[in-house]
Amino acid sequence: MRVGRMAPSRPNSYPVAVPHRCKKPEATSLGEIVETGFELYRMAADSTSKTLRGTSIAPSSFTGRNKQSPCRVRRRMQESLAVVRRSRQSYVEEGAAMMLVWIVSNDSQSAQHKQMEELDEKELSKSSVAAFPSYADLSKADISAVLERAAQLNGAKDLPDLSKVDYSAFLERSAQIKAGDELIKRQTPNSGNTGFEQRTFHALINPASFKYNAQEQHVDLTSDEHKFIPPGPNDIRGPCPGLNLLANHGYLNRNGVTTLTQGIDAINKVFGVAYDLALALNAYAVVFNGNILDLTWSIGGPYKSQSLGALTDILLGEPGGIDAHNIYEGDASIVRQDYYAPDANHDNVLVHLPYFQDLLDLGNNDQTPGKDVYTAEVLLKHKSNRWHQSVATNPLFFNSAFGGLVVTTAAERFVAEFAANNTVDENGYNRLYLDEKNLLAFFSVERTDQGLKYTPGNERLLTSWVRRPLGATFGLDDIVLTLLSAAAIDPSLLSVGGNAGQVNTFTGLDVGNLTGGLYNFETLLKDPQATACYLYQIGIEELVPTQVNVLYKATGQALDFVAKYLTAPWKNLATAGGNPCDSFNSNIAQQYSKFPGSKIERNGQTGLLTGLLGALGGKKRRTVRY
Ligand code: HEM
Repeated sequence: MRVGRMAPSRPNSYPVAVPHRCKKPEATSLGEIVETGFELYRMAADSTSKTLRGTSIAPSSFTGRNKQSPCRVRRRMQESLAVVRRSRQSYVEEGAAMMLVWIVSNDSQSAQHKQMEELDEKELSKSSVAAFPSYADLSKADISAVLERAAQLNGAKDLPDLSKVDYSAFLERSAQIKAGDELIKRQTPNSGNTGFEQRTFHALINPASFKYNAQEQHVDLTSDEHKFIPPGPNDIRGPCPGLNLLANHGYLNRNGVTTLTQGIDAINKVFGVAYDLALALNAYAVVFNGNILDLTWSIGGPYKSQSLGALTDILLGEPGGIDAHNIYEGDASIVRQDYYAPDANHDNVLVHLPYFQDLLDLGNNDQTPGKDVYTAEVLLKHKSNRWHQSVATNPLFFNSAFGGLVVTTAAERFVAEFAANNTVDENGYNRLYLDEKNLLAFFSVERTDQGLKYTPGNERLLTSWVRRPLGATFGLDDIVLTLLSAAAIDPSLLSVGGNAGQVNTFTGLDVGNLTGGLYNFETLLKDPQATACYLYQIGIEELVPTQVNVLYKATGQALDFVAKYLTAPWKNLATAGGNPCDSFNSNIAQQYSKFPGSKIERNGQTGLLTGLLGALGGKKRRTVRY
């Protein structure tokens, strides 16, 4: 889907009359107009009266005999806003406000005038309220044009066209695995006399099958725009080293608040994340950790949405950022503590050095430069250790389908794939390796005479770091295979469930029960296509609407966003090759509520997913800023 450059949908008729050029535009920028319209819209959403008291705006300003020129309407919007701002008791009539939203979403200083000029008087006289989006129920408003505008304001690039994603390699691999082909033994030839072997690979596209191309694989890490700069006191950083370093290198906004399109672009360009995975990761962050109205999200804690003003009332409070526990962030992370673990002091963000040391120990503390020490096998082994460590130490350990299963397991794999450096082997092919030097920089850890030293928020790529060939992107299909590789090392890693309030009481939800008998644990292990469908159904399709209900006041808008940007990549994979991926009603949110550690945590409040709004209420959480 191409959002950035798509023209907003054009209604049959226009709500304002005579084509008219503003001699002196009252609004200086499109952002200002959008902001004004949204503020009115928000007030309308809160309004209980049908009367537009104290303002000069009325529906008849846009239709019928009293139609106004675009300039006048805009000026009136601003006057109305001023009145409403002065008197908080004033109410905005919902219909009028929806029209404003319609106008601002279709307006620009020049574009609308041009459209207007194209219309003749006859057509304009057909103007009617039917031209506007439904305003009987604000939650059903179609805000796609607004989203497109917001994307443009954010300097959007084209979003991926998911219909072009090719899953044939995944389907082939899936068929091989079903036929009994072992999942993780796909050894590429040794690279001979360099002393270093090519790694065993798990991804569908092997970076070692590409000739090394210094120019194509170069990533700017030294220019003024992209050199490493540690975060300032007001910059947000969070639990994801990949995102932290992208902000430190200026590929994400250095303040730590990014956007849907910037996030997709950055992880694709710098790390070679495939578009479907990039979209899925970013869209989830926007809807659950950010603001669907301006498509921003934070790589750490809460933030104030800036692009479109104070619009976050549509959410229940400010956007929480990816720190928010049990939404994106989960337990048994690589080197961070569990949010509810005793003694963790609710710190799920900072590196816990003993866990980091465990990882170094698994790599035998091998410091040989250029050696591929931290492979996917080592990291998935570490994931298995961390999982059992959490079960044994955190009475509230919880492994959800998305935050737990997908995100924290994928994150281990991300280290092996993306922190890894690339070089040329003696045959001229790309060789991917992760040695200690690159690992330490990625996690902002140093070896000192006094032991390991961690500097929060200083994650970086070394200037000698080179990206994998872009032909060998890593996608959503690779995430599915990663989970199966992890389960081949330790089947526990494919379990959704948690402790019952005491350590070592882990109970996994039964796959057969969850899927109404469609799948069982063994089918998942042997069938990547079944696993893709399972993850899609329980992690996204069923659960996301429930979460949206918890987090948003205006659920219709959030669900519209979800369907377009979040469900689409997952559904495409789950149904690739004609797989029916039938839905099953697992009642997953209800199942989660059995586990005391499943409480979500956002903006200082905790609550069970199923308890919805009423259950929210709890402790203040810490916000980590550097
Ligand atoms: C839009 C893209 C991304 C989002 C929204 C995202 C989000 C997250 C979140 C929420 C966590 C915390 C998970 C936990 O509880 O352990 C996390 C952890 C992690 N992420 Fe990302 N991430 C993204 C991209 C990346 C990329 C591109 C990389 C690698 C270059 C990466 C590497 C990691 C690693 C290694 C961790 C684990 C940190 C630890 O446990 O110590 N992420 N990410």
